[in-house]
Amino acid sequence: MNRLVSPNTETFSPQVVVKDVSLGASAAAADRFAEKIATTSDCVLGLATGGTPRDFYRLLAERDLCFSGVTTFNLDEYVGLAHDHPQSYRSYMRTHLFEKVGLDDRQTHFPVATSPTSDLQLAGAAYEKEIAAAGGIDLQLLGIGRNGHIAFNEPGASRTSRTRVVHLTESTIDANARFFDNRDQVPRQAISMGIASILDAKEIAVLAFGKQKSAAVAASLHGPVDASCPASFLRLHPNVTWYLDRDAMTSSSTEKSNA
Ligand code: PGA
Repeated sequence: MNRLVSPNTETFSPQVVVKDVSLGASAAAADRFAEKIATTSDCVLGLATGGTPRDFYRLLAERDLCFSGVTTFNLDEYVGLAHDHPQSYRSYMRTHLFEKVGLDDRQTHFPVATSPTSDLQLAGAAYEKEIAAAGGIDLQLLGIGRNGHIAFNEPGASRTSRTRVVHLTESTIDANARFFDNRDQVPRQAISMGIASILDAKEIAVLAFGKQKSAAVAASLHGPVDASCPASFLRLHPNVTWYLDRDAMTSSSTEKSNA
């Protein structure tokens, strides 16, 4: 695969917070988001879904925070699922955060993807405009896939990509099948913010837990900055913090010490 970043491109060392267990890492990330919400007027948050951030959202919702000035943009949404489908990302966010903290539909945004036949490319551009009109994202939450994806930017995604329709890889369909009755029900397409959209955020927080993420974490922190591991592009951003448990860090530390 071609390198997308020349050797002269400036890269940054992220902050890495490692806790013994995932709950500690979730709490550390929730602390950062709480601080940001409390100190930023018209705070704009970028949010992620998946198994990883559940404790994070629970802990954030337990804080004594005012969300009335907060606007949120989620990274992605499946194509073809209705808003109120139990596995839509809007449903996930309602359950895990929005209903708990009183964030209503006017404050929360998702790329629109209810119909595979609607003009989804225009929807992508519209989402980018909405984010820009809100003043950009102050703090973006991310998870990471076992293959190094961020949002639905799978290996091969361009560093310059923006919100667009993407096809899920087989490994992502496999990973997400646990949320559906069976694998056939997992949508094959999603609409997702791109790498460039994510790198526009002023600050980024990445959560990764468990041994199954350790190879992707290692590649992101220490491997080449290229499309083979989309999360490696985060090293092009000057303000990224990784919140890890020991298991997610294990092989990355080993790789570093062997490098
Ligand atoms: P997970 O997904 O939290 O369900 O592991 C993370 C991701 O794919 O970004």
